[in-house]
Amino acid sequence: MGLLDGKVAVITGAGGGLGRTHALLFASEGARIVVNDLGGARDGTGGGSAMADQVVKEIKAAGGEAVSNYDSVATPEGGAGILKTALDAFGRVDILVNNAGILRDKTLIKTEEPDWDAVISVHLKGTYCVTRPIFTHMKERGGGGVIVNTSSTSGLIGNFGQCNYGAAKAGIAGFTRCLAQEGSKYGIRVWGLAPVAFTRLTEDLMGGAAAEQSKQALDPAKVSQAVLYMVSDLSGSRTGQFLFVSGARVAELKIVGPEGMKKEGFTARDIADNEAAVFLPKESGFNMYG
Ligand SMILES: NC(=O)c1ccc[n+]([C@@H]2O[C@H](COP(=O)([O-])OP(=O)(O)OC[C@H]3O[C@@H](n4cnc5c(N)ncnc54)[C@H](O)[C@@H]3O)[C@@H](O)[C@H]2O)c1
Repeated sequence: MGLLDGKVAVITGAGGGLGRTHALLFASEGARIVVNDLGGARDGTGGGSAMADQVVKEIKAAGGEAVSNYDSVATPEGGAGILKTALDAFGRVDILVNNAGILRDKTLIKTEEPDWDAVISVHLKGTYCVTRPIFTHMKERGGGGVIVNTSSTSGLIGNFGQCNYGAAKAGIAGFTRCLAQEGSKYGIRVWGLAPVAFTRLTEDLMGGAAAEQSKQALDPAKVSQAVLYMVSDLSGSRTGQFLFVSGARVAELKIVGPEGMKKEGFTARDIADNEAAVFLPKESGFNMYG
């Protein structure tokens, strides 16, 4: 008995990195998989069928069922094409993992419009373009579903040199919280994921002498176990929540606030005088390296 027996899962950007390990794990748990990947470079340029086809080959070699799709997530036509591939091959979609992504890291001053547009298109617009048709299909089919949107600590906390990427990932977080509310009446659960893994996206950031160590400690397959928890019945009715997953660590990430200061007609000076009530204590901040 697999945790995903009888389910159909669409995973975007599944030709490498985290998407690939999600796809292999889900298939080993009985799901039939649509392996979507544009097959381009890390910065989103180029394309090809080899990456998606290779993962489909691996799944089939292990006795699973999978089909390739090479559409870009960044257009409505791509999103519709991904759903069509799933319906043609398997007749339904139960699970969607929005995972496709690119990087064009630069400080804001060096970020030209094409670097802004490309990153926002693939991550934020891509999440919209793929989710809309699949969410609609899930609603119309009436059997519920689970959607996992890949955010990042860059969007939820911030990271130097990633204003474009952080903005897209924070946008995905807002999208997730809103869609979780819309999905609840149809039994469609919506999760957010903030992963840390050694992939082609991060290898130069985690490189140097510690590269081999990071590669093992931050194996993307570890993150996939948490995503399997999210999309399977193991997570029950949970929705609208975010998991940070890094190596051996899994922790919820959530926006929290204190009770705050309440004073009719408060002034700027009152805020300064009541900082202990207005702000959270510093030590309550999340430490991603903890
Ligand atoms: N690796 C990390 O530590 C980390 C941290 C935070 C968030 N993430 C996010 O996790 C996701 C997976 O990243 P990864 O680290 O596995 O990187 P990756 O580069 O290995 O995987 C991303 C995949 O998306 C595909 N892709 C890019 N543009 C596409 C498009 N328009 N349409 C379809 N596919 C497209 C790429 O070809 C690639 O295979 C991304 O959304 C990334 O932002 C990763």
